[in-house]
Amino acid sequence: MNPTVAEARARLDAARSVVVLTGAGVSAESGVPTFRGEAGLWRSHRPEELATPQAFARDARLVWEWYAWRRDLIGACRPNDGHRALARACLDRETVRLVTQNVDGLHEQAAEEEAAGRDPSPALPLTLHGRLFGDRCRGCGIRSSGRGRPVDASSFDTLPRCGTCGDLLRPDVVWFGEALDPEVLDAAFAAAAAADVCLVAGTSAVVHPAASVPLATLQAGGALIEVNPEATPLSARAAVALRGPAADLLPAILG
Ligand code: OAD
Repeated sequence: MNPTVAEARARLDAARSVVVLTGAGVSAESGVPTFRGEAGLWRSHRPEELATPQAFARDARLVWEWYAWRRDLIGACRPNDGHRALARACLDRETVRLVTQNVDGLHEQAAEEEAAGRDPSPALPLTLHGRLFGDRCRGCGIRSSGRGRPVDASSFDTLPRCGTCGDLLRPDVVWFGEALDPEVLDAAFAAAAAADVCLVAGTSAVVHPAASVPLATLQAGGALIEVNPEATPLSARAAVALRGPAADLLPAILG
């Protein structure tokens, strides 16, 4: 076994409490484009241009067209071995808590599938940035599921509307310039501060406050394990940095 894999595995086995922070790279092998990679572009628009409340106010049709495209693309993706290994770790050990920046729903799918009739909830992540397949009313804030409800973004008039107040629905994701749900964020920081190991996988660790979650573990005296093909701003502080794809490395270190 590669010595860094063995060291990561030993640290995870010995840990009393583990928090895991994932980003888009964990879903790369499932075919989900990362945000800052080339494939993150849609018709030459960068996500930062479309995923904002200002873009939605200016051109809700264009923003919905992009999200309808993303739902089609990501709806066809399946959890990979990395998602599955994480789900099993959470189901088998009560003290592993999963936190994700991903909105793709693949951790949730893996949780359902790996639970195989058991309660999947220990493997459901805290979703810092919301849910791609969720809808939320722009006016009254009521949430609903957008799964299996195709969006017709051919004109403004055909965009999905709230069944209660009639205002426009929007995807239930956190956009640039918006605040994260404080309850979800508090729970993530509490889990990180209580953990003696923080496993960070597939994130460029540049978007805060999500990228600060691992710092709570470090500040409380815990250690960081990083899984990423490339170095990130967190790498220098990692006790173990594993360079490679999450779909290979997560099953190897989680056993
Ligand atoms: P990024 O696209 O910024 O970073 C993806 C990371 O995954 C990079 O560090 C890659 O090196 C790494 N990576 C690529 N392939 C990988 C693989 N096979 N296995 C493991 N790692 C791999 O995505 P995030 O860090 O998730 O926020 O981006 C954070 C946030 O920025 C997103 O949640 C989104 C965006 O703004 C919102 O939408 C609010």
